[in-house]
Amino acid sequence: MANKPQGRSHQLLQILLYPLNWLEERTSLPGRSGIVGGIKYFLFRKVPSDISWGHTLGSAALTAFIVQAVTGVILAMYYKPDPNSAYESIRHITDDLWAGWLVRGMHRWGASVFIILLFLHMGRVFLYGAYKYPRELNWIIGVLILVLGMMEGFFGYLLPWDQTAYWATVVGVNLQATGPFVGPFLGDVLRGGSEIGPDTLARFYSLHMLVIPGALAALIGLHLWLVVRIGVSSPPWSPTEAGRPEPGPPPAPRKGLVAPAPRNGLAAPVSRGARRR
Ligand code: HEM
Repeated sequence: MANKPQGRSHQLLQILLYPLNWLEERTSLPGRSGIVGGIKYFLFRKVPSDISWGHTLGSAALTAFIVQAVTGVILAMYYKPDPNSAYESIRHITDDLWAGWLVRGMHRWGASVFIILLFLHMGRVFLYGAYKYPRELNWIIGVLILVLGMMEGFFGYLLPWDQTAYWATVVGVNLQATGPFVGPFLGDVLRGGSEIGPDTLARFYSLHMLVIPGALAALIGLHLWLVVRIGVSSPPWSPTEAGRPEPGPPPAPRKGLVAPAPRNGLAAPVSRGARRR
């Protein structure tokens, strides 16, 4: 009788875990974990015990990217990429739709937040020397993400099709067109002809909506995969940095923290160990 509540909670846990186990069983291969195991491996990783708030800037940039993607999808449901209707569709979103002003404002300001967070994250990585071996490739991927992030802002700026957007794009495209050798060609490609007009808007819309977000998502995926694969670096002042052994006895296990379980099982409580690199 005394075991009854525990038995019930165990049953409840089994019911809650059933969909996850169902999904895991159907997505795993022999000896390899499936979707649930993969997500758990990504979320419950060992990290150095002396990391700081600076290490959260990458995740903050990821959050900003997700906010941009979600608000962008909502805006795309109402935006019309045509010079005769673009401005009016933006006015409609801002003034007539419920919380339209909020979604548009989040997307507009979120673009700057995303770039600022990218620079802060990059600054943290640079100051900690985390771009060095074996993380050079992740730095290179990060630079590509930064360039694409800024291009995303440039192509999105034209979409409201107001005076500011139009003339800012004239200046931006003309700057490209004055570049040596490929400059004039690049200008024509961006404009979709010799003048900024309907073709330019369609082109910018496609790049802003499909090409660059797709490339960014792929690069962010690769970036995060490398972070998980290589592990997060310790701060430069860490006693175990550069392969020095940790002084003193190993840290005592702490209760209540969850760390990686074997890739095929569900989360198991273990002590917070530190992978040092
Ligand atoms: C949307 C863009 C980005 C996302 C979502 C992202 C995400 C992350 C996350 C979650 C981490 C692990 C924790 C941390 O150190 O914050 C990380 C590490 C890293 N990131 Fe980024 N990042 C982005 C852009 C960049 C950029 C622009 C650079 C540099 C040009 C960069 C270079 C690196 C490097 C070298 C590491 C390894 C740092 C270490 O192990 O200490 N990342 N990134």
